[in-house]
Amino acid sequence: MELKKIFKKAKKEGWAIGQFNFSTLEQLRGIASAAKKTLSPVILGTSENESRFLGLEETIALVRILENKESNDFFLHLDHGRDLDYIKKAIDLGYDSVHFDGSGLSFEKNLKLTKEIADHAHKKDVFVEGELGYLRGKSGFQKGKIKLSKKDLTKPEEVEEFVSKTRINSLAIAIGNVHGIYLKMPQIDFERLKEIREKTNTFLVLHGGSGIAENEIKDCIRFGIQKININTELRLTWKGVLQKSLEESKEIKPYIILPQVSEAIEKKVEKYIKLFGSHNKLYNG
Ligand code: G3H
Ligand code: ZN
Repeated sequence: MELKKIFKKAKKEGWAIGQFNFSTLEQLRGIASAAKKTLSPVILGTSENESRFLGLEETIALVRILENKESNDFFLHLDHGRDLDYIKKAIDLGYDSVHFDGSGLSFEKNLKLTKEIADHAHKKDVFVEGELGYLRGKSGFQKGKIKLSKKDLTKPEEVEEFVSKTRINSLAIAIGNVHGIYLKMPQIDFERLKEIREKTNTFLVLHGGSGIAENEIKDCIRFGIQKININTELRLTWKGVLQKSLEESKEIKPYIILPQVSEAIEKKVEKYIKLFGSHNKLYNG
């Protein structure tokens, strides 16, 4: 499967693939054109709620149409799946990759359910991301700071058993990263990242990419992260441009207003692609 080959290439060459979440066509178009412009593979992410809003079949159809039109490496990923039947449905309908988020469960239950999803997914050659550790925060902007507890972080000693027994393709870890942007962002625990990297060869994923300082992102990649998820920054861009345009002009035609949103998202995504180093890394490019 091509996505595995891209992850392998990223790991070997020391760059990361970006996962950019969307739930509207103008967001998707912005991400797709940034990828096309920079010749970068991208993972197009939808959470359960994002895909429920857009419709699973509609999401798949839109991504496939754009992929054929742009001849780019687009991979559709179900992000933070918690409902087993829904994840299996996404797999059966044609998602390329799924994330089972069992981070709120005990280690044993998380392992058991992640394995159930992985067994189902591998039959269809679908990529599977598991998660160990508990990631705090919600994808939005928060004025204060967020309190993290050490017991939420991924325990390096649990990683090997979890990866080998579930047969996942990648693992999302909690190392001080959080969902959303806070005025005061927590510190990334690089020592923990290094320890996790030593325990496993699996591909490692960093959720909560919005708001993390550029030098920290670069170090995360240097110490072994192969995928970084971005959502909040794109939501804020979507809202900011739309709000400004609606407030400042009398325009009512969506096809005049919404391209501005796509353009702003394209710029944001382009910036991340360059930061992650995935430009000019198309699989066949
Ligand atoms: O799964 C999605 C990401 O982890 C998004 O995190 O909203 O902080 O960018 P973010
Ligand atoms: Zn996440």
